[in-house]
Amino acid sequence: MNILAIETSCDETAAAVVAEGREVKSNVISSQIDIHRLTGGVVPEVAARLQLEVIQPVIREALAKAGVGWQDIDALAVTFGPGLMGSLLVGVETAKTLAFAHGLPLIPVNHLAGHLYACLADEPDITFPYLGLIVSGGHTELVFMKGVNDFELIGSTRDDAAGEAFDKVAKLMDLPYPGGPEISRVAAMGDPEAISFPRAMLDQPNYDFSFSGLKAAVRRELVDRKLSKPELADMAASFEAAVVDALVRKTVRAAQAYRPRAVLLGGGVAANTLLRRNLAAALGTTKLLATPAELATDNAAMIGVAAYYLKDAAVSGPGLFDLAADPAAALAAA
Ligand code: KG4
Ligand code: ZN
Repeated sequence: MNILAIETSCDETAAAVVAEGREVKSNVISSQIDIHRLTGGVVPEVAARLQLEVIQPVIREALAKAGVGWQDIDALAVTFGPGLMGSLLVGVETAKTLAFAHGLPLIPVNHLAGHLYACLADEPDITFPYLGLIVSGGHTELVFMKGVNDFELIGSTRDDAAGEAFDKVAKLMDLPYPGGPEISRVAAMGDPEAISFPRAMLDQPNYDFSFSGLKAAVRRELVDRKLSKPELADMAASFEAAVVDALVRKTVRAAQAYRPRAVLLGGGVAANTLLRRNLAAALGTTKLLATPAELATDNAAMIGVAAYYLKDAAVSGPGLFDLAADPAAALAAA
């Protein structure tokens, strides 16, 4: 089964062809990073307009790179939420129109389900339950996954998402957008124990996170000071260690309580080497399935993988036009 997947939830315009939920035949991403760097972050109206300009060529390229034509496609898939309304609309309306024109079913996929299923792209045997940690620019969630479309939210951030914290702290430190990879690069030269930043909510008996206090602590350190390069590296390393520590400790605690078959680590921040390493070590005998690095930040292949498992939700014919973009779509039990 060849699925043509489309993802436009934020600032990437992406299309991919995925066979049987595991063979990524093409994975095309048109990134707006260079443009959002000028403003230090994503401006929603700009993001949506740029999506509209490139969506058609991106889809054509995904088909060409996979070496397939429309006659080889069995279904379309699209991210319907959560994300930016203007950006989501571009993908959803394009997918509906193409599905109607080519007489194909369309599988709606929650963006966060895509991040979780990306961890299962290379798994030969999918056996539930899993515990998922989703860490992206917009979300930080711990999810107990009991079946293909059966998600229980057990914890989330009370304020900033982990990726958002990386992006905001990078901005404070005059590092470019997106902040995650930049902070990691600078942190590699620093001492993670140089500054003792707060690890919020660790003493509370829940699986929630909070990163805004950490951001404020970094801001306090930076007030009226011009840091030297080594000081900047120490601050980046200490900040990264604090974020990773909070994520690892709550995830390990949840794994002990829920006893999943494996822990899934997905979302853009899953590309972080320290997080991957420390989480794997702290989980001990519980297996960690971290998203392959090339599928961690937003892409359409992860939507194509998820769609294969979620194909029962497909809509077709006139039913297509009932499908709506949902910027606040929750990942909840089906
Ligand atoms: O999943 P994603 O591509 O988009 C959303 O769904 O939000 O995640 C983007 C986020 C950004 O905040 C970015 O700074 C962060 O992922 N990120 C990282 C790394 N690579 C990307 N954070 C920490 N370390 C990284 N290596
Ligand atoms: Zn994402």
